[in-house]
Amino acid sequence: MRVVPAAPRRIHDFVPIRKLHFFLSNVLFFAYNQGFVCRCQAKRQLVEGSMLSLAWQIRDYLNRKGLIISEGIHMARDKITIVGAGRVGATAAHIAATKHLGDIVMLDIVEGLAEGKALDIAEAGPIELYDSAVSGTCDWTKTEDSNIVIITSGLPRKPGMSRDDLLAKNVRIVKDVSQKIARYSPNSIVIVVCNPLDAMVYTAAKVTDFARNKVMGMAGALDSARFSYFLASELGVSVEDIKCVLMGGHGDDMVPLPRFTSVSGIPVTELLDEGKIAELIERTRKGGIEIVNLLGYSAYYAPAAGAVKMAEAILRDKKTVVSCCAYCDSEYDAGGHFVGVPVVLGKNGVEKIVELDLNESEKAQFEKSLAHVKQLALKVDKLL
Ligand SMILES: NC(=O)c1ccc[n+]([C@@H]2O[C@H](COP(=O)([O-])OP(=O)(O)OC[C@H]3O[C@@H](n4cnc5c(N)ncnc54)[C@H](O)[C@@H]3O)[C@@H](O)[C@H]2O)c1
Repeated sequence: MRVVPAAPRRIHDFVPIRKLHFFLSNVLFFAYNQGFVCRCQAKRQLVEGSMLSLAWQIRDYLNRKGLIISEGIHMARDKITIVGAGRVGATAAHIAATKHLGDIVMLDIVEGLAEGKALDIAEAGPIELYDSAVSGTCDWTKTEDSNIVIITSGLPRKPGMSRDDLLAKNVRIVKDVSQKIARYSPNSIVIVVCNPLDAMVYTAAKVTDFARNKVMGMAGALDSARFSYFLASELGVSVEDIKCVLMGGHGDDMVPLPRFTSVSGIPVTELLDEGKIAELIERTRKGGIEIVNLLGYSAYYAPAAGAVKMAEAILRDKKTVVSCCAYCDSEYDAGGHFVGVPVVLGKNGVEKIVELDLNESEKAQFEKSLAHVKQLALKVDKLL
């Protein structure tokens, strides 16, 4: 019997390409539509997850059948590298997978750690209905051409330590990691998580030499979440209704701004007295150490959620307004430093710094915090 090699079949031999494109677009449209009408976050994710998963299965089925999908259908996934597969890194990988943000590569220097955690996360996929490829490695070549790199590789603090105590050791780690990012993913956007946060963002920006809008740090998202949670608990309202802004460095001198904080549009200053607000601000400032004292190591669920929120805003070009550590020059008279400010995050990274009209007291608090950030940057310069 003569075996005739099958001629490559093209999808439009079977389904007109426009119809397929239309069908897949509809599946995706339906997924998002259904997702958005679910008020409950968990339901929303489940519906989005199932529909997106269906779309991917159709694509994979067509690929397996040898049907060549036209390049016109763009279904390539984003690539997210998470450096450090410790508590924050692995938790971020899991959250990113549940949100279908893209394919995830976790990298760690400890042999087997990233691979093991990645496998565990991938194995939760069939239960949680995500099919992102999640892999772990010690090999930087596997991170090549990432769209986003989240740096969580760094020592965390222990009881009795301040974030600044981590400076010398973490500068060394972030310097090394940033050199690799510049080499393997020169077009990526970098979100730094390790502490002391503002100094580590400065280190990554200096070493990668990436455009300033493409290097940023996660702290404001976490600090705002903590402040929102404390306010919601105090008021007995949903955390979804709280909108707040925080500025300054990620430390005890961060600047929560009650004047710009609202509960579904109602200024929080109308709902709580000054003393109570001051108490919650103090708890927010000490939010990190509160967890360190309870656990013996630092927080990771909320920090990981904060980092993924930023990655999502960028990958989905959401134009999310969020506080993060970003490069400010004339903005807030920061004079070329990375410090926490409200920004708009979209596909180009930090697309805009939102400039608030601070009053004298807020300005003074911000300047104090900025002075501390500047001091740390000088120390980084000596260590690099
Ligand atoms: N920005 C924030 O709000 C925030 C919040 C929590 C924690 N953090 C910081 O995040 C960092 C990570 O915290 P964690 O609890 O996940 O720590 P962890 O010790 O659990 O994880 C750190 C991981 O980084 C890895 N690592 C170290 N050097 C590396 C290198 N050169 N390349 C690749 N991997 C390397 C380690 O092996 C470890 O697995 C700490 O610096 C911590 O202070 C920041």
